[in-house]
Amino acid sequence: MAVSVRRLRPEDERSDFHSGNIDLDRFFQKYAGQNQFRHHIGTTYVAVEGGRIVGFATVAPSEIEVAQLSPSRRKRLPGYPLPVLRLARLAVDDRVQGRGVGVTLLKAVFVLARKMANEYGCAGVVVDAKPEAIDFYRRYGFLEFPILSGQLGDRPEPRPMFLELGAIPEESREPG
Ligand SMILES: CC(C)(COP(=O)(O)OP(=O)(O)OC[C@H]1O[C@@H](n2cnc3c(N)ncnc32)[C@H](O)[C@@H]1OP(=O)(O)O)[C@@H](O)C(=O)NCCC(=O)NCCS
Repeated sequence: MAVSVRRLRPEDERSDFHSGNIDLDRFFQKYAGQNQFRHHIGTTYVAVEGGRIVGFATVAPSEIEVAQLSPSRRKRLPGYPLPVLRLARLAVDDRVQGRGVGVTLLKAVFVLARKMANEYGCAGVVVDAKPEAIDFYRRYGFLEFPILSGQLGDRPEPRPMFLELGAIPEESREPG
């Protein structure tokens, strides 16, 4: 069955969604709507299959410090904070995991990053990857930020990862 991606709507049924990660499920059920419709601090895109929500990705504009990048990637960039798109949350219902819904949502986020770059400026996509999802993001070109001095690099905690705009596939470009 075909999967389509669109913005969350107030009337969407969210109580039946479970990804296996309690925090992500609670966020989707309790906070995604108010963040989007009342506070305007993040927008959630849902993957829909046969009328049912099977996954979601929440994005918000953000910025990174140039000093977070490795010296070679920092070259030629100005010293002030750079605008990026943050992939704040991504989850797929555990009944359909492993069937391409996650990458479909990721590609929709790439289109948004390209759109943001064209309209407002966007240096790439950042994500705080859960340890078990790091390899998923690596497959699509995300790189872990270099560990800055004073940070521990070996904790099993979310790891910030970055995909530069130039590494986002061309087909993610908006027409025109
Ligand atoms: C991580 C998650 C979003 C992936 O979504 P999914 O729909 O299951 O993944 P897809 O089917 O789109 O996978 C696309 C490819 O990535 C691979 N992949 C999926 N999850 C992976 C993982 N955790 N690690 C490494 N590779 C992974 C798949 O094998 C597939 O490879 P293929 O193209 O060679 O077949 C989903 O498993 C999930 O919601 N997990 C629980 C919540 C979570 O960890 N979210 C991430 C928060 S940072």
